[in-house]
This record gives sequence, structure tokens and C-alpha cells, in this order.
Amino acid sequence: MTESDVLGSASPRVVTVALNPALDHTIEFAGLQLGSVNRALRMQVDVGGKAINVASCLADFGVHVAVTGQLGRDNAALFEEWFQRKRIANHCGYLDGLTRVNTKLVDTVSGDTTDLNMPGPELTPDAAGDLLEHVLRSLDRLSERTPWVVLSGSLPPGMPVDAYAVITRRVQAAGAAVLLDTSGAPLRAALTAGPRLIKPNRHELAELVGEPLETLEATVAAGRALLRGEHAPETVVVSLGADGALFLNGEQALHALPAPVTVRSTVGAGDAMVAGLIVARLDNLPLRATARLATAFSAAKLTRLGPYLPPPEQVRAIAGQISVLPID
Ligand SMILES: Nc1ncnc2c1ncn2[C@@H]1O[C@H](COP(=O)(O)OP(=O)(O)OP(=O)(O)O)[C@@H](O)[C@H]1O
Ligand SMILES: [Mg+2]
Repeated sequence: MTESDVLGSASPRVVTVALNPALDHTIEFAGLQLGSVNRALRMQVDVGGKAINVASCLADFGVHVAVTGQLGRDNAALFEEWFQRKRIANHCGYLDGLTRVNTKLVDTVSGDTTDLNMPGPELTPDAAGDLLEHVLRSLDRLSERTPWVVLSGSLPPGMPVDAYAVITRRVQAAGAAVLLDTSGAPLRAALTAGPRLIKPNRHELAELVGEPLETLEATVAAGRALLRGEHAPETVVVSLGADGALFLNGEQALHALPAPVTVRSTVGAGDAMVAGLIVARLDNLPLRATARLATAFSAAKLTRLGPYLPPPEQVRAIAGQISVLPID
């Protein structure tokens, strides 16, 4: 697997792993009706996929970040231009064919977003093995001086379900910490490897514990249960969409309420929260300040379409307005 030219000589402070990136086509409608003809207001094409969204938010906040993973050779130019523009170091390997396209239908009247996500390239066992090896090798090189590695998003079809577990073990054995944000079987498998921080949303946590989690109490209990056991994470953050997020560690349980911002698009709010969590960990912030900053990253993201954050001082100003409630 070949690697493109790598930007930036200073060591990145964070590496995000994009095993299944995507191009996001966002199409806005004033009132979307499924099953009939809809006239779009506008369309925007952005690079996307969770790991790339996280990297973009970090870059906008001024954090030096690298991305490893894979890109489809046939539409890689859009990603390469993006990485150059954001000064993100590109350590991705290249696969034949196209990077998948995900479509987001935004209804400007209801504020709802409908996601149509493609599965990604179907990998043969050999191709999956090569990709995993590429990622492990680039992480071996990068994570020596990189305190945090972000594993986020789905796995492409054909990638073994324990890929994130394998990466987590390797990275953390080398002394860096893993923030994991995925769902379903890859989440369940990776938890056995003890990632330092996890950020499921309420639905992902419900699926993991096999309970509906209809109340805040049930959600807190399920999150706290993950803090116990041999390979438990140090911190569990459960994002609750418009209900805010829970921040849990061995000592404290906090509920951060969302900021009162005008929601333009909810796409990537969780990815922005992951970026905010990373900044908080790099700065060694206590849990309450972590909750404020991570929630502010999400709030800032809600005001924009595409993988953009407003300037850092605006994000920090929002952080100062976030209410954080203790949970007993
Ligand atoms: N509709 C909303 N109104 C206000 N705040 C929101 C809304 N949706 C999300 N947020 C904020 O963004 C944070 C993360 O959102 P959410 O729980 O939807 O993440 P997610 O499901 O992981 O999203 P994704 O994976 O699509 O990026 C929430 O904790 C909250 O602070
Ligand atoms: Mg998410």
C-alpha cells in the first residue's frame, strides 16, 4: 500500500484513524417529503467520515493532527486538498476505486437531517490485512510522540470486527491513549482492549448494554457500569443529542446541558465533541471543564454545515456559558 506525501515535519499531537472515510453530500430542502419530487435549495460537498471530521475540528482549533487509514484513489484529490488547506498530515494508504459517498438530507423547516450512508469498499481478507498493517505501522511511527489516538466511525465491510481492539492494544502498549467512538460489534470488541476514553451516544450505549435506556437514571447507570471491570475506560462520555451529555469517571458524574444555539445541522456534533474531549485531555482539564469544552465544540459545530468550527475564541466563549449539573 502506497502513502502520499506527508505534510508537516513537527510531530502531531493527535492521530485519527479513518478506516472508512466518506465524501459527504449535504442537500438542503425547505420541507422534505419522502416518496415525492423535492426541489433542493442547495448542495454542498465536503470530505467526511468521523475520523476526518474529528481531525478537521482539531485543526480548526489549532491542534496539529495527522490522519491515517485509507482513501479511494479515484476521488482522493478532494481529501488531499482538504488536508493541505487544514495542515493535516496525511498518512492514509490508497485503495483502488472511489471513497464512499454519504448523503445528508437537511430539512430547513423541521431541522431534521436524514443520513443515507454507504457501507464503504468491500475488502478482501488480504486487502483488510494490508490496510490494518498500514495503519499499525503508521501508528507505530506517529504514536511515539503522540499522546492520543482517535478511533472513530464504522469499519468497512470485510474488515475484521476486532480491528479497533487490535489497534487499541498496540497503541496503548506503546504508551499513547485511545479515544474510541464507534458502535455495534466493533465497539463491543474494542472494549476488551481497554480504550482510555469512550463516547457512545445514547443509542450506541443502549445497543451495547441491551436495554432501551429511556431515562437519564438508566443511562447514567449503564455508563457507570462501563467504568467497572478489568479493562474499564477511565472516562465514559454519553452524548444525548438535544439533552446534552453525561461525563463519568471513577470520582464524578456530571450532566452538561447543551448551549442555546441555533441548530443549522446536527451532522458531526458528536465528532466535534470528540475533538473537544481530546483538547481537554491534552490540557489535562478536570471533568467539569472537560464537559464545558466538549459541549462547546458540539454547540459550535451545530451552527455550521460541513467539517468547520468557528474560531477558537468563539468556542471558548460558548464553553463559558455551558451549565454542568452534578449527578448523585
Ligand atoms: N439538537 C440539538 N440541540 C442542541 N444540542 C445538540 C443537539 N444535537 C446534538 N447536540 C449537542 O451535541 C452533542 C453530541 O451530539 P449527539 O449526541 O447527537 O452525538 P452523536 O449521536 O455521536 O452524533 P454524530 O455521531 O452524528 O456526530 C450533544 O451532547 C449536545 O451537546
Ligand atoms: Mg457519534
